[in-house]
Amino acid sequence: MKRVRTGILISGRGTNMSALIEAAKASAYPAEIVLVISNIAEAGGLARAAEAGIPTSTISHRDYATREAFEAEIDRVLRGSDVELVCLAGFMRVLTTGFIAKWQGRLLNIHPSLLPAFRGLHTHEQAIAAGATVHGCTVHHVVPELDAGPIIAQASAPVFANDTPDSLAARVLTQEVKLYPLALAKTAKSLRPL
Ligand code: GAR
Repeated sequence: MKRVRTGILISGRGTNMSALIEAAKASAYPAEIVLVISNIAEAGGLARAAEAGIPTSTISHRDYATREAFEAEIDRVLRGSDVELVCLAGFMRVLTTGFIAKWQGRLLNIHPSLLPAFRGLHTHEQAIAAGATVHGCTVHHVVPELDAGPIIAQASAPVFANDTPDSLAARVLTQEVKLYPLALAKTAKSLRPL
């Protein structure tokens, strides 16, 4: 079986990234993680990826005058590693239409809400403020409109009356790390070769 060469973009601690790396250790898993790129040099996920033997790269958005130039470098590094599919895993930069178009159908994101509810940032605060009793996470294809692409998979988590944004985030994260490997496998299996 030819496994789909997958790159992961992160900005932080890399919990979801680690779940994808762990799942892809199984030889029968349809994707292999070949590269992790962070836009933040201090991101904890970089060390976790390196420990797992995955090549890493830091591409700081601060080093580029424009979003387009920053993304052109990400694109160059991804293609340099023959990446076929990209997973955003806590990557906290909005991508331009140009980059998204280049990776159409090959760019996934995990978002900590049951989309279309609670797009954008501070989703756990949003859910508590709205009085939601069910919350969760979504893996979706990335399209130019923020957090609006076709949904690949979702998982739910209850909201309890005494939840804080942090306690709710932790509960949702336990679902995220199960969901993302399933969603990546599903997408990788149905992907045409480049
Ligand atoms: C995750 O909860 C992910 O869903 C969220 O950031 C966190 C990253 O944690 N992503 C977004 O909010 C995207 N807009 P991690 O680095 O430990 O996986």
